[in-house]
Parts: sequence; structure tokens; C-alpha cells
Amino acid sequence: MEEVEEERDTVNISVDGSAHEVPSGISVLRVLEILGYKVSQFYGGGVVNRMCNSGACYNCCVVIDGQLKRSCVTPVEKGMEIITDKDMIERYEPLQLVSQISAYLHPGVSCFTNGCNFACSWCHNWNITFSSVGDPLTPKQFAEIISRGSGNYSMLGLSGGEPTLNRRWLIGFLKELSHGNKKLSIQVDTNASILTKDYIDELYYSGMTHISPDIKADSVEAFMSVTGVEDRELAQFYLNRSWEAVKYIINEYTGKLFYAVAIPYHPRLNSLEEVYKMGQRLASLNKDIDVNLVEYHPAFRAREMTLAPKGMVQKAVELLHDAGLNNVWLQGLEDAPSPLDPEELVGSLILKGDQNRI
Ligand code: SF4
Ligand code: FES
Repeated sequence: MEEVEEERDTVNISVDGSAHEVPSGISVLRVLEILGYKVSQFYGGGVVNRMCNSGACYNCCVVIDGQLKRSCVTPVEKGMEIITDKDMIERYEPLQLVSQISAYLHPGVSCFTNGCNFACSWCHNWNITFSSVGDPLTPKQFAEIISRGSGNYSMLGLSGGEPTLNRRWLIGFLKELSHGNKKLSIQVDTNASILTKDYIDELYYSGMTHISPDIKADSVEAFMSVTGVEDRELAQFYLNRSWEAVKYIINEYTGKLFYAVAIPYHPRLNSLEEVYKMGQRLASLNKDIDVNLVEYHPAFRAREMTLAPKGMVQKAVELLHDAGLNNVWLQGLEDAPSPLDPEELVGSLILKGDQNRI
């Protein structure tokens, strides 16, 4: 990215009923920042949440000319009437981009919500995570699609991207789904970075039966290396939040929810020492929980990286045992989708179009 300075025309708009003259050619989100509205990556920390910042999660929506629109990717235009009032926004059904792919991890169907607040260099679902293309769905629309085939499977896996980013949408979807289908198990795969106690409670009472929090690191330095979150304060916030979420799940939901904690591993991105510390920290919470060591393979921006030597992966598993954990599993490469070249994938997405989307 290169920063340039240039003269811009201005346009007249209104925000929450007040008239403003603002630069043209920038996003509505940037306009709101310039006007002094609080835009925050700390979930719930501002008037507008900037979570994925890529047009995928619909978390930054405001009402623009009577429609709910993503402020991060909507360019400001002359005469726009923008409303940021929460009550007004909540009069509209929440929206979310969702993609569906046949299951490879779940005994049922896996669905993937677009958008993530992290930018992991090896993101295996990068083509969904960072895509803002397609028509978003309301919770009801998506629940209806899932319910149509739900007689054929017993479990729905919700992954991403980060499925918890758009809370109003996710809770709405779970409620819609569990009203119509009490027998369907629902697993949420999450980086746990915005999960609060009340959010976890709400997920549980809305029908979530399984959760797989993905703990990326012990130290903030390793966390930043793994996730690509460059703002240290934000990285520390997400790291703390994810550990607090895991602690709460273990303390409050053992026996109520099925859960397994995932730890990603590749020597280029985190060290064996880091893995051991994570193991110790988890064992101090409950040594009998299920822990999956997830072997990362080359993908996305890290597609040039070589595979971790088998000996190191085995060593990481042994270290988790040594740290005191009794139930450690290796989610190895044979469990993961084949690494595809991103350029090939982009080509196939463009060519196949809607085949890749619900
Ligand atoms: S947290 Fe998961 S979905 Fe998000 S960027 Fe990282 S690997 Fe991709
Ligand atoms: S922050 Fe704008 S769509 Fe996710």
C-alpha cells in the first residue's frame, strides 16, 4: 500500500440529521471517523464496529438512504443520508455473507461465514474469509436453506472466516435453526477473540451444542506473528479475550457443551516453547480437556513456506502431554483440505461464480 496526498472534491451529506461537507472518494466509514464518530475494532467499543474491514461481515452497517449498508466498502456520495443510531439500524434484519462447502471436518455440513478480524498468512479459507462478493442473507433466509437439507445430516459446523463477528446475525440464525430442528447439533469454530461471557451464554441458549475455540498463542508477540494483527494493543486485547473465553467455557460449560481447544502449529510462526506454554496454561484450567494440535500447511500468503518436519510436529504433541494435558490429538495434514494455489482458486471462483455460493 502506498499513501498518497491529493486534492479531493467535497460532497454534501447528512449524518444523523446534521449537514456536513466531506471529501469525496472515501468510504462512509472513513467519513464517520473524520467527523469524530468512534469507529472501533474493539467489539462494541464504538458507534460502528470495524471488524473485517473488507466488506464481508456486515458488522459496520449503518443506514444509508433507507438501506442497511456496509460503511467500510460503501463510497460516500453527494446527498447521502446516513444514520448511525443503533435502534434505527436494528429495525433492519442483520445480514451476513455465507458460503457452504461440503463437509470435510464435520459429520454433517460445514458452512463458512465470510470475514475475519485476523489476517493469518496461511488462512486456509482465505477465498471465503477475505471475499466480500455475493448476496448476503438474513438469519431466517439462511436457516431456511439449512433446514431444507437437515433431515440428511445430524450436525452443522459453522466456521469461517470468523463466525462470531456478526453477533446479531449469528444469534438470530441459531434461534431460527433450533426452533425448527431440535435434533441438529451445531458447532461453532471460532478464534474466540470477541467472545464475552454473556456472548457464550447467548450462543449456548440459542442452540449451539459444540464449540471449538482456536487459541493462537501464549505471548502477544507470537499472537501477532500468527494472526497478522499488527496493532499491539488490539492484539493483546484479542489474545486476552480468547484465553478468558476458553477459561469460561471450561469452568462453566464442561458437561454442557462439547468443546475442544485448537492450537495451530508451524515452526515458522510459533515456537515449540510457545506450544508448551499454551499446554501448561490449558492444563492449569483442566488437564482432561480435548486439545487438537493443528498442523498448518502452506496456503494463501504463506504458500511458499515448507511443511513442518514431522519430528517437530510430533515433538509439539509430546510437549502438550508433558505440559500436563491428557487428551491431545493431532489434526494433521490428511485432515485438512488440499492446499490450492490462490491464483487458481481466484480463477475458479470467477469462472464458476455462483456455484461456490448458496
Ligand atoms: S482466524 Fe481463521 S479465518 Fe481468520 S484469518 Fe486466521 S485462519 Fe483465517
Ligand atoms: S467491517 Fe465492514 S463488512 Fe466487516
